Amino acid sequence: MAFTFKKQIFGFLDLLRFKKMVPRRRAKLAEGSPAPLPSTYRVNETAGVLHPGFQSAKLIAVVQNTADTKTYTFETERPFYFRAGQYVTLGCKVEGSAVSRPYAISSAPKAALSKRVSLTVKKCGFFSGYLFDNAKEGDLFTLGDPSGDFCYEPVKDARHVAALAGGSGITPFYSMAQAVADGTEDHALTIFYGARTERDLIFRKELDALVSDKIKVVYVLSDEQKEGFEHGFIGADLLQKYVSGEYTVMMCGPAAMYAFADKELAKLGLPLRRVKKEANCTGVRDVAAATHTLTVHIGFDTYTVPADARETVLTALERAGLNVPAKCRAGGCGFCHSKLVSGRFTIAGADKRRLADAKFGYFHPCCSYPDSDLELIVPKA
Ligand code: FES
Repeated sequence: MAFTFKKQIFGFLDLLRFKKMVPRRRAKLAEGSPAPLPSTYRVNETAGVLHPGFQSAKLIAVVQNTADTKTYTFETERPFYFRAGQYVTLGCKVEGSAVSRPYAISSAPKAALSKRVSLTVKKCGFFSGYLFDNAKEGDLFTLGDPSGDFCYEPVKDARHVAALAGGSGITPFYSMAQAVADGTEDHALTIFYGARTERDLIFRKELDALVSDKIKVVYVLSDEQKEGFEHGFIGADLLQKYVSGEYTVMMCGPAAMYAFADKELAKLGLPLRRVKKEANCTGVRDVAAATHTLTVHIGFDTYTVPADARETVLTALERAGLNVPAKCRAGGCGFCHSKLVSGRFTIAGADKRRLADAKFGYFHPCCSYPDSDLELIVPKA
């Protein structure tokens, strides 16, 4: 079929304009500066300083807080800016294997200005045990960027925070208390700090020194009766005794504490938006020992790795010396997000994957235990 084209006056004018466009552009380009473009830009340099990804850090001080807890202070290459309540991934090589673990930051955000950051570590598990027994001043480690959103949000949270801490779960709240005391954060803070005995309280003296009209600390002992302390567990009755009006509950501690606190908070009828929980690292699963085989694809390489059914897939990968991405180790950040090709696994606790991840076969090795041989595709760290 033959087409007939209509000649239109506007089309002709457009053609004329187009013919003039090339010489006009050439003239404009000729007017431009001949100086080369900058090789870096200020905004990128600032972003690089604030978010270097990983940096090396030298251990400069170790202080023993209790029988099983130590605080490690690191000197960082660059100022380590973070918000009170955040955690960081600390890593090093242990017997040839790259090992890392997230720890809550216990120092004040202001310490970042002097290139200092402190982490408080309870002796439990492989890496924490290694640190406790072996780390010494002068040792070099890697620090990831600060992560996590277990922080006070002035827009969303009430002006009063009721902090529920169990054992070493006091760490983020100690950082927060320092931030309130030095004016970095502006809110009231009542810390309910539960421990077995008085000797198990970390930062007792330091916390007492921070008490003011804005900061209060209530110590709660579960296994010891002593004057001047509350006793039992942190429940609704204690909250009602020490805090009133509108408040946000933030909690950090073991899973058993969360289970108890959930029931107690239900009695108070707090709206969900007023309760925040810090995620816990996934520990060892209580099942019979069994060894499975992981077939792991990273980039163009394939590895075969043994995996104990009691430990997470991530632990097996690290034990084999593979450098795989991880941050929270609790299924929350999605940093270890990997594709499952075949096999079965069990997730520790709640499944925090996006619906699409579960549907299309992605999982989080950090909180998944192998129930059979697995084949998986892991992103490069
Ligand atoms: S390391 Fe955060 S989800 Fe696995």
